[in-house]
Amino acid sequence: MATPESQHVDIPSIRDDFPILDREFGGEQIVYLDNAATTQTPDQVIDTIAEYYRQTNANVHRGLHQLSQEASVAYEEAHDRLAEFFGASGGREEMIFTRNTTESENLVAYAWGLSELEPGDEVVMTEMEHHSSLVTWQQIAKRTGAEVKYIRVDEDGYLDLEHAKELITDDTQMISVVHVSNTLGTINPVGTLAEIAHDHDALIFVDGAQSAPNMPIDVEEIDADFFAFSGHKMVGPTGIGGLYGKKHLLEGMEPFLYGGEMISRVTYEDATWNELPWKYEAGTPPICQGIALAAAVDYLDEIGMENIHRHEDALAQYALERFEEFDDVTVYGPAAGKQRGGLVAFDLDTVHAHDLSEILNDYAVAVRAGHHCTQPLHDKIGVTATARASFYIYNTRAEIDTMIEAIDDARQLFG
Ligand SMILES: Cc1ncc(COP(=O)(O)O)c(C=O)c1O
Repeated sequence: MATPESQHVDIPSIRDDFPILDREFGGEQIVYLDNAATTQTPDQVIDTIAEYYRQTNANVHRGLHQLSQEASVAYEEAHDRLAEFFGASGGREEMIFTRNTTESENLVAYAWGLSELEPGDEVVMTEMEHHSSLVTWQQIAKRTGAEVKYIRVDEDGYLDLEHAKELITDDTQMISVVHVSNTLGTINPVGTLAEIAHDHDALIFVDGAQSAPNMPIDVEEIDADFFAFSGHKMVGPTGIGGLYGKKHLLEGMEPFLYGGEMISRVTYEDATWNELPWKYEAGTPPICQGIALAAAVDYLDEIGMENIHRHEDALAQYALERFEEFDDVTVYGPAAGKQRGGLVAFDLDTVHAHDLSEILNDYAVAVRAGHHCTQPLHDKIGVTATARASFYIYNTRAEIDTMIEAIDDARQLFG
């Protein structure tokens, strides 16, 4: 009989695309459940990288020779492909390649925040922000005299929307919100928050690090002013991520980094800027990584983002169901049966998260332990660390069973 996870996608054939999943430690096949940190890479992306270095490698926009032209075209077209993937009708002009979500956050905070914010202005975030936005806006606010406010997270792991409506006023200039929490798994109503922001002439920055890999995204439907993502969390390589921005906003902002590639004309006195998106891509860009990222989204589209979302939700629900067997396990975020991203953070009364993750490693089960870059949220819920299992398209219920058995063994050991 088909299991829920296999109804929409052919998991065995997907697993065949990921050579690393065959690795064994101590005779046990790896169970990789740390996908919210970094996903694994399919042959299709690995082959694109190898092919690029075998056939095309050259610097872009700098040479008239054949290799440089081919690399330039492929790199530029990768921007169009990512814009298309996220529903940005402005194409490459609205798609800047960065190193990762963190750099995208910093780009907007520096390029927009430093010149636009002043004392009396407010930046609204949520209590579940990742450090990449929380620390960035906190520091930019300190430098500009703006104030940072946080939308409350309730006991069930949801944003308190009434509180959001109270906090967001005409003093608010920017709302920076995580789309899917990397700790709670909560899927935040970013479209509703965008509406509230725009009613007050504020902008909204959506941290899509955990949503971009896991669900269909249409930045125009959300009406996000900015949307950030990381390639390494969506079967792409490390060193590449992106920032979608509405064209008129990107045109109006000053560059974040200065140097080669981002200029139009330079004299000893001054310089003018290149057109979008190159104005924001100073120096030699991540050429191979950008091209490989386009291959990554081709791969995801082939499976279908709806299918990926359904699969992950099914795995998260199954994990929650299995955790219910233990009365000494606390699970964080929306309850079983409620929509959530494909991750579950939890902790045991008897075993510290770090010890647990070490024990699971003996079973070749990879989970993450720590504060997951949401230290203030951990302070709020009163724990210093949690363990987190996060799933992707190649994971199975059998792997969750293996994790649960290993957790049970750890409980016996420490209990
Ligand atoms: C919600 C969220 N935002 C931002 C980031 C930062 O991503 P990166 O380290 O790729 O910049 C992460 C990474 O875990 C994340 O989960």
